[in-house]
Amino acid sequence: MSSNSFHDAHSNTYDRMASGCTRKVAEQFLSDLLPSITPSSYILDNACGTGIVTRLIKATHPSARIMCADLAAKVLEVLKGHVAENKWDSIETDVLDVRDLKTVKEETFTHVLTNFGFASTPDDLNGPTKAAAEMFRVLKKGGVCVITTWAERNFPPAMEAAAVTIRPDEKPYTWDIPGDWGRGSWLMRQLEDAGFGHAVQVRSVDSRIQAGSLEELVDNMLLFKDMFYKGYTDEEIARLPDILKEEVRKLPNFVEEAGFAGVNMVAWVGMAWKK
Ligand SMILES: C[S@@+](CC[C@H](N)C(=O)[O-])C[C@H]1O[C@@H](n2cnc3c(N)ncnc32)[C@H](O)[C@@H]1O
Repeated sequence: MSSNSFHDAHSNTYDRMASGCTRKVAEQFLSDLLPSITPSSYILDNACGTGIVTRLIKATHPSARIMCADLAAKVLEVLKGHVAENKWDSIETDVLDVRDLKTVKEETFTHVLTNFGFASTPDDLNGPTKAAAEMFRVLKKGGVCVITTWAERNFPPAMEAAAVTIRPDEKPYTWDIPGDWGRGSWLMRQLEDAGFGHAVQVRSVDSRIQAGSLEELVDNMLLFKDMFYKGYTDEEIARLPDILKEEVRKLPNFVEEAGFAGVNMVAWVGMAWKK
């Protein structure tokens, strides 16, 4: 695979599509990273997207040296915009596949962080195994590797229910993940088998997609329309916001308070240390 067309196509809207859910998880693992980030750290933000993890690191460690890698060249362009705007130095970028970090020598990084870029190859069932082996290879001894995956996304059922309302006779698109990829035990096994052995911890953390209002949240969710509502007519698309709003309200994980609306999610955070 030499490009990543979905994330290339959505490079400018990725942050709105994520609606804070990947950032919330990164905030939690960055605050208890061990070894912590120091001026001599060299960090890989693997499958970095628009640099949500890198931006969080730079906010607290402005001199941190970070390599940002992603398969989608266009998300790296968005990231470079943030780098230029903030005048950050010590950031390199490269178009790389998590399964084959081919320009990276072994034992290069002190921290290898893969925030929701690990189970992103449902078309390649061996993708995560290859990616975990690559993360182990490029990590220095004594370094830490973090991989996050979703345990519960919770919002796709509303997208599917809206599809059924509009097209009752059609099977809706479902965002399936292969086998047990949503289980913490699966993530732990991937890390163990990559070479980390017993130096592995997996814990669940809370997250959510969130926006300033339900209208805004639904707008953000509709950025996934070419996945869930592919081929819909303009008239059908025009009906979606109101229908989706009702379906999101019905979700057991929907939360609305003054100033925000969201859907609670749960992630797995796997941390592993190279002895
Ligand atoms: C859900 S986004 C996560 C982005 C970012 N890490 C964050 O925390 O928001 C997944 C990212 O993985 C990238 N990706 C998907 N498959 C990949 C692969 N095989 N190698 C490298 N990057 C990949 C996508 O382009 C996208 O930027």
